[in-house]
Amino acid sequence: MSYNLLKGKKGIIFGALNEQSIAWKVAEQAVEQGAAITLTNTPIAVRMGEVSELGKKLNCEIIPADATSVEDLQEVFRRSMEVLGGQVDFVLHSIGMSPNVRKKRTYDDLDYDMLDKTLDISAVSFHKMIQVAKKMNAIAEYGSIVALSYVAAQRTFFGYNDMADAKALLESIARSFGYIYGREKNVRVNTISQSPTPTTAGSGVKGMDKLMDFANRMSPLGNASADECASYCIVMFSDLTRKVTMQNLFHDGGFSSVGMSLRAMATYQKGLEEYMDTDGNIIYG
Ligand SMILES: NC(=O)c1ccc[n+]([C@@H]2O[C@H](COP(=O)([O-])OP(=O)(O)OC[C@H]3O[C@@H](n4cnc5c(N)ncnc54)[C@H](O)[C@@H]3O)[C@@H](O)[C@H]2O)c1
Repeated sequence: MSYNLLKGKKGIIFGALNEQSIAWKVAEQAVEQGAAITLTNTPIAVRMGEVSELGKKLNCEIIPADATSVEDLQEVFRRSMEVLGGQVDFVLHSIGMSPNVRKKRTYDDLDYDMLDKTLDISAVSFHKMIQVAKKMNAIAEYGSIVALSYVAAQRTFFGYNDMADAKALLESIARSFGYIYGREKNVRVNTISQSPTPTTAGSGVKGMDKLMDFANRMSPLGNASADECASYCIVMFSDLTRKVTMQNLFHDGGFSSVGMSLRAMATYQKGLEEYMDTDGNIIYG
């Protein structure tokens, strides 16, 4: 449903690969809410992937760019300002990749060249993006920059590997740059820490199905979907959140605040009888 939350706003969406991508949903919802956008992804993703379909559907330009290349990023901002007609109001960083995870290198047997790539693609690219935007004065006053993160930045999750370190760095960059960009230009920088979500990047995580089931049982509201994450991004891009900056915002159905839930614990029990009253209702405590 459109509330015109982004009416008249301009934005850049990094990371829409296919219909499952969180960035894909953000792009769709941003346009539905009245924004004009450009899309960008790696040259290979643009050539081989489905993003051109999204560009056609939303009638927006696609700018190929490797987010680890400062030159490519300069071109993304230059071209976006050209086609959108001036400074942009919001930017989504929805980018993550670990060659160590792909090659099944465990955390105690990391390849360090691959670790450099993980950190560059998944975290330092966020710094590069913001630095380029600031130097080009490409983001309007009270503009909003959002990157997507995961709770493995704070707590250890089996199989998340060097992506946990990348997410910790990503969230730190949001705070460090949020301070400078806020102070100088009133631009906001935040991360949204999303539930496990079935996407191409998500499916790279070891035991993803079981992780999703566990997170769902742990979260009082259940896992958040890609569409729900997109809605939260829209709110963060809108004028309703003008004073929110330097935050890591959990969008996870409550998962990050729960130590153990009955539904998760029950999977290790033979039944729920000992938690029921005489009428068969579960006693919550
Ligand atoms: N899926 C999950 O469970 C989950 C949970 C929390 C956070 N996230 C985060 O959400 C973000 C989006 O991931 P997704 O789940 O939508 O998966 P996705 O695979 O659809 O998106 C990842 C994107 O990163 C892009 N990318 C990779 N290397 C790049 C580079 N060098 N330059 C530019 N783009 C590059 C890919 O082309 C792809 O579009 C990532 O930061 C991911 O870590 C995902």
